[in-house]
Amino acid sequence: MTNFCLLTGASRGIGHATVKVLQREGWRVLTVSRQPFSDECRWPMARESHIQADLSDLSSIKALADEVRSRLPEGQLAALVNNAGISPKGPNGARMGVSMTDADAWSQVLNVNLVSVSLLVRELLPELKAAGGSIVNVTSIAGSRVHPFAGVAYAASKAGLAALTREFAHEFGPLGVRANAISPGEISTSILSPGTDDMVKKYVPLRRLGTTEEVAKTIHFLCSGESAYINGAEIHINGGQHV
Ligand SMILES: NC(=O)c1ccc[n+]([C@@H]2O[C@H](COP(=O)([O-])OP(=O)(O)OC[C@H]3O[C@@H](n4cnc5c(N)ncnc54)[C@H](OP(=O)(O)O)[C@@H]3O)[C@@H](O)[C@H]2O)c1
Repeated sequence: MTNFCLLTGASRGIGHATVKVLQREGWRVLTVSRQPFSDECRWPMARESHIQADLSDLSSIKALADEVRSRLPEGQLAALVNNAGISPKGPNGARMGVSMTDADAWSQVLNVNLVSVSLLVRELLPELKAAGGSIVNVTSIAGSRVHPFAGVAYAASKAGLAALTREFAHEFGPLGVRANAISPGEISTSILSPGTDDMVKKYVPLRRLGTTEEVAKTIHFLCSGESAYINGAEIHINGGQHV
């Protein structure tokens, strides 16, 4: 039987690379992002696998889940990868500290990066349970230490997502559903700020950026049966930046 995965934020960066790895490994991947399907996404069945949705709109999560459900032939979701995330910046790319972050910015970041994840999992739990599925949340090194470019709402959202991962692992483990997180450091994508290269030279023991493929392979590992006894973990993918 084909394993189905739902992956949010698949249109570029880490999500895009993860679709490619999962497909290579024989998974059928349903993708979600705000943009409509792009012709640049040339993986098999890309067009018919894409669902356009805005995760900042919490009232639309139920409709998104209904759409996903309608596309699962056996009613089973073997993996849910919560990868979509936003890290807004101030004027000229400035870090959004406490004084720069207003209520709207807080809501937007928390809704996309944290609250939508919980609501989506809540909706799709029956399908995850039916498959003995795996949830993978994409957190960040900014969730556990002050980061020079990531803002306060982003950091808090990722710390919250790490906590939510533990809650999922505790609550859904008895149902046979695992939940883990991967925490990237500086990965080569459009989310990075100018100045990252200097930071990498100073603070990353491996002295280089990570690649999206390296992150994608770890996500695949956590989706697959190879990680069958791993539950509630947060795996650092940062070249040793956290030590
Ligand atoms: N790159 C890094 O170095 C790094 C480091 C630590 C953590 N991370 C985390 O890794 C994840 C992926 O990062 P990335 O660098 O690959 O980011 P990215 O290139 O900016 O891609 C973000 C993805 O999320 C989607 N997205 C954004 N807002 C959305 C919304 N409201 N509803 C639905 N989809 C939405 C985007 O698609 P649309 O624009 O079409 O909606 C896009 O596919 C994020 O959670 C990020 O916080 C990245």
